[in-house]
Amino acid sequence: MQAPQGHPAEEVSAASQEEGDLGEVSVEQDLEALRIEVEYYTPSQTEGPFYPVQMPDDRDSDLFVVDGAEGRPAGEILVFEGTVYDGAGMPVHGAVVEIWQTDDNGIYMHPGDSNSSRRDVNFQSYGESDTGPDGRYSFRTIMPGDYNPRPRHIHVKVRMDGRELLTTQFYFSNDPNAGTDRIFAGAGAEVSALIMEIEEGLDSEGNSMLMGRRDIVLRDILSE
Ligand SMILES: [Fe+2]
Repeated sequence: MQAPQGHPAEEVSAASQEEGDLGEVSVEQDLEALRIEVEYYTPSQTEGPFYPVQMPDDRDSDLFVVDGAEGRPAGEILVFEGTVYDGAGMPVHGAVVEIWQTDDNGIYMHPGDSNSSRRDVNFQSYGESDTGPDGRYSFRTIMPGDYNPRPRHIHVKVRMDGRELLTTQFYFSNDPNAGTDRIFAGAGAEVSALIMEIEEGLDSEGNSMLMGRRDIVLRDILSE
């Protein structure tokens, strides 16, 4: 980026760079270091019928804690994170990653779910995570309940500046229901970009939890 000659901002930026501060120029260099070689695009998947019709008041990235709820949801805690990249391999800052999923009993927060009256009200069901300058998003949720005949899945949407860039679903490795699921199969060989590997871990209080990671690579080029 070329600032006009003698522009005060340029002098400040140059000075702070010499001092090793995060001036404008050095931030750009740091982001360039985060660029990946694009080897796949995250395939899209059907939205399904259960995107919330009414957004909950609490829609942060911690689905395990609902504001004002007295209890905590049933189910195994799942913490997952990833980086959103654009089609040029650059991290995307300022995107909103949305997720929605079933509770531990496989029930959605949606009037179209015939079991919605039995929904776990301590589970947030829907959440949003804003990506930082490094493109990172993260969630704390629970492992979606058994959802026979479909494999367990988490619905995902990525928005930016009000525009919808991707709607898809994340799956988990070795799900016995994956092989017979038409939506899963619809992604073809690209489905590997939707599967989250999970491992066992401990949270800060020593409770066991599952940890996963799933990067998202958009087709749109947003960085140039
Ligand atoms: Fe679903």
